[in-house]
Amino acid sequence: MTLARPVTVSTLASMKLASEKITMLTAYDYSFGHLLDQSGVDVILVGDTLGMVMQGHTTTVPVTVKDCVYHCRCVSRGVERAMLAADLPFGAYQASIEQAWTNSVRLMQDGRAHMVKLEGGELMAETIDHITSRGIPVCGHIGLTPQSVHQLGGFKVQGRDQAVAKRLKRDARAQQEAGASLIVLEAVPAVLAKEISQSLDIPTIGIGAGVHCDGQVLVLQDMLGLYPRKSPKFSRDFMQGNDSISHAIEDYVACVKDASFPAVEHSFE
Ligand code: KIV
Repeated sequence: MTLARPVTVSTLASMKLASEKITMLTAYDYSFGHLLDQSGVDVILVGDTLGMVMQGHTTTVPVTVKDCVYHCRCVSRGVERAMLAADLPFGAYQASIEQAWTNSVRLMQDGRAHMVKLEGGELMAETIDHITSRGIPVCGHIGLTPQSVHQLGGFKVQGRDQAVAKRLKRDARAQQEAGASLIVLEAVPAVLAKEISQSLDIPTIGIGAGVHCDGQVLVLQDMLGLYPRKSPKFSRDFMQGNDSISHAIEDYVACVKDASFPAVEHSFE
């Protein structure tokens, strides 16, 4: 019996070099962690969207480190092959570099994550440098950063104007230089996401950022049509046309790999 080799940061870097799309989905419990892992998802993210899809909040702001650690530990028991990333939630890393380090260690040791994700651009570069240079891989997250929803004035597309587009390009470069292994680009025009993806050595993972990112991520409940509130325009219900959850997840993996998802209707111009 051959065991599938675990996905590491080196695997992700090689996938970008080989132009192989990276698949990412969120999960919050053991059963889905196992199913996603068996379906060939490359990176499983215990996102702070758990606050919305598991806890019923309207934003991710109320989520705590304890919540992320608990859900990550549950998911970790089902994961053998995928890389397991976990969100640092709102308020868990902005106060100081020491706070970011301490909470990253909690996610790695108690949550059994392989990588932490944090929101913010150039401002977070020093924090990313500190965490990565001490042995914890980091995934950045720029564009629409949901933890800042109240500051942004809603869940809005970012980077449609020149000034913000320029800042996002600077943010992406600063995160790469600080040592990030991946960057999530959320709700940015496809043309901008393409330019950022082509300019970086590290892979970009898009959500509402067009087909030219190096990989894609969706929230599990959105892509299974399970979220009772409105799902974002950039998501697609993969249960439509599939007769089981596992087929829907395999379909998502296939559509990301062959770049048929996202289509133009899931992207912003
Ligand atoms: O929290 C989350 O699930 C995320 C993804 C939407 C990228 O950050």
